[in-house]
Amino acid sequence: MTAKIVNLDPVTPVTPAPVRRVVGPPPPPDVLLDVRGLKTYFHVMDGTVPAVDGVDFQLKRGETLGLVGESGCGKSVTSLSIMRLIDIPPGEIVAGEIWFDGQEILSMPMSQMRKIRGSDMSMIFQEPMTSLNPVFTVGNQIAEAVKAHRDVSGREAWSRAVEMLEAVGIAAPKRLAKQYPHELSGGMRQRVMIAMALSCDPKLVIADEPTTALDVTIQAQILELIKALQERTGAALLLITHDLAVVAETVQRMAVMYAGRIVESGPVEDVLLRPQHPYTLGLLSSIPALHKRGRQLDVIKGVVPNPFRMPAGCKFEPRCPYAWDRCRQSDPELLAIPGGDVRARCYLHSPEGASRLAEFERVSVATVADETL
Ligand SMILES: Nc1ncnc2c1ncn2[C@@H]1O[C@H](COP(=O)(O)OP(=O)(O)O)[C@@H](O)[C@H]1O
Ligand code: SF4
Ligand SMILES: [Mg+2]
Repeated sequence: MTAKIVNLDPVTPVTPAPVRRVVGPPPPPDVLLDVRGLKTYFHVMDGTVPAVDGVDFQLKRGETLGLVGESGCGKSVTSLSIMRLIDIPPGEIVAGEIWFDGQEILSMPMSQMRKIRGSDMSMIFQEPMTSLNPVFTVGNQIAEAVKAHRDVSGREAWSRAVEMLEAVGIAAPKRLAKQYPHELSGGMRQRVMIAMALSCDPKLVIADEPTTALDVTIQAQILELIKALQERTGAALLLITHDLAVVAETVQRMAVMYAGRIVESGPVEDVLLRPQHPYTLGLLSSIPALHKRGRQLDVIKGVVPNPFRMPAGCKFEPRCPYAWDRCRQSDPELLAIPGGDVRARCYLHSPEGASRLAEFERVSVATVADETL
């Protein structure tokens, strides 16, 4: 006999219980963040947008990872899924596991997640004005963040706020703590956000395009600051950016995203000097090298696929100069590249691609040499 759900209260509709996630074994203790098969979709008027469609990566304690890719590839949705800040609806985390500091956080009650967010895991957003409250002084806001997660008095929280403002390079921290966000420049506001994000000694900091809204000289200072604080505190850093130069200067490992998936990952110097995926190579060729200034940018031909009509095979196939029949049949897995720690989602690295791989490698070596001349 099948069980029937009986609604005893005719006013409240019956909502099905959330689907229990299949949770696998925890990662080894040195892995702080383990994202496995993450899928976050948005249900909109025209259909479903698979914004993140099977993302896997790991971040070890104290490690720095850059997540790069063109606008719209799913970087922010990945980070918001880790923070569990996706608006449901229209969003939905349809599959996957996220392990953070030994616990699977997608199956955790929201009350427990709130304790982690802002203390063990914190985020620096692109535009600090949207995250700072205009009606409170910045000192107050940092102190409140400290009080929310630590058992401290108001006075102790205020001293922590001043101490953090000093740590992010603010010259007169006591005076600045009494100022309101609108009284500060964009660079100063971003320093305040960094102070707030680091105020509870997080184990993980997620910085989503933290310098994009700032002018170039301030960008460099803020990146230096994030890097220095990360080294001093030993926090792991997930740095999201569309800028390969930022990644090259700031992080140890990188992951390249395309159409909601990671297409290549590995140590920064390996990925940037010996790219293994045609998309990574395309991104590298689009950087204006010094000697090329004034020349037309070599942008990747074609456009990002329509989210409602994703190619059945490799998502990069319509734009890929190396594509062949195999690429149209199914989407490749992330394949380990022999002799290192790089993985690439491309059939060139499967036995069937062997005859084509040599030509790709010839172009890849020539392109990287051209960029670094
Ligand atoms: N609230 C939303 N509703 C519908 N679609 C969304 C929403 N947020 C993000 N998306 C879609 O998800 C995709 C990935 O977005 P995002 O992660 O913000 O990209 P980016 O890599 O630039 O950070 C985009 O196609 C975007 O349109
Ligand atoms: S699998 Fe095929 S289409 Fe996709 S990136 Fe590799 S060569 Fe290009
Ligand atoms: Mg974004």
